[in-house]
Amino acid sequence: MENIVQPKPYKISEVRHETDLEYTFRFDTDIKVNHGQFLMLSIPKIGEVPISVSDQGDGWLEFTIRKVGKVTNVIFEKVAGDVMFLRGPYGNGWPMDKFQGKHLIVIAGGTGVSPVRSTLNFCARNEGFVKDVSLICGFKGCNCILFKSDLEKWQNNFKHTWLCLDNEDKEGFCRGFVTNYIKELPLNEYEDNYEIIVVGPPVMMKYVGLELIKNGFSEEKIWMSFERKMSCGVGKCGHCRIDEYYVCTDGPVFPYKIAKNLVD
Ligand SMILES: Cc1cc2nc3c(=O)[nH]c(=O)nc-3n(C[C@H](O)[C@H](O)[C@H](O)COP(=O)(O)OP(=O)(O)OC[C@H]3O[C@@H](n4cnc5c(N)ncnc54)[C@H](O)[C@@H]3O)c2cc1C
Ligand code: FES
Repeated sequence: MENIVQPKPYKISEVRHETDLEYTFRFDTDIKVNHGQFLMLSIPKIGEVPISVSDQGDGWLEFTIRKVGKVTNVIFEKVAGDVMFLRGPYGNGWPMDKFQGKHLIVIAGGTGVSPVRSTLNFCARNEGFVKDVSLICGFKGCNCILFKSDLEKWQNNFKHTWLCLDNEDKEGFCRGFVTNYIKELPLNEYEDNYEIIVVGPPVMMKYVGLELIKNGFSEEKIWMSFERKMSCGVGKCGHCRIDEYYVCTDGPVFPYKIAKNLVD
């Protein structure tokens, strides 16, 4: 029987610098994941971190990592050809079966774009999977913009796209928080046949949720993804527990009915 917590070595085939603090690492691997799931990435004698899959393809997975501390600092020293250890995938991922055939609305901020990037790319590559995509995507400023070539592709492929910078002006971008553009979403056009993904820092998810409800969107159609400190990743250690929920196994994606109590 396969040991689901056994890390295995995989080669890094490419490292792309998105910003000074966020790099995308591509691994050669046949591990199959659902969109929105995460893996545990580790370096022996250093430690292990949960990281969302930011894109996937035939024989490869990508992870976009922000350099914040002990383990991620060492990951940033890795280059193409180096080996790291992976285990997983873990967590539930986005409910893609619910999204199929519907208008998909995605509201993402900062590094929160990572866990939804593979879903967006899947929708862009597979025309007809969803009816159409409306994307509101925000970054703090010009130096924080991730996935520049994907953003361009999404702008060309998706029906409605708002790319926002909190407090800087740049051609092709709106100025202000993602919450400012929720009222622009054409609710009537969606004819009650829609689902909404929200992912970003907890405070952003909280206010996006409130603004969606204020603008008449249905609570039952909102899905949010969470990050918590983790250790085992498989529901055994309790590190990721919030109330009665284990983010590693019950999440990281939660329906708004549960998520709204987790962001307070
Ligand atoms: C399901 C899931 C998916 C994730 N996906 C990504 C991803 O795609 N890209 C990415 O860059 N990061 C992601 N993270 C967060 C990532 O796991 C942490 O940034 C990482 O564990 C930090 O490890 P470190 O040893 O480098 O930092 P540490 O030295 O442990 O900590 C540095 C700082 O980061 C804070 N921190 C540590 N872990 C977390 C955490 N899990 N959530 C929030 N703050 C934390 C600490 O409180 C401290 O302030 C995800 C976390 C979860 C739970
Ligand atoms: S990380 Fe151990 S229970 Fe979730």
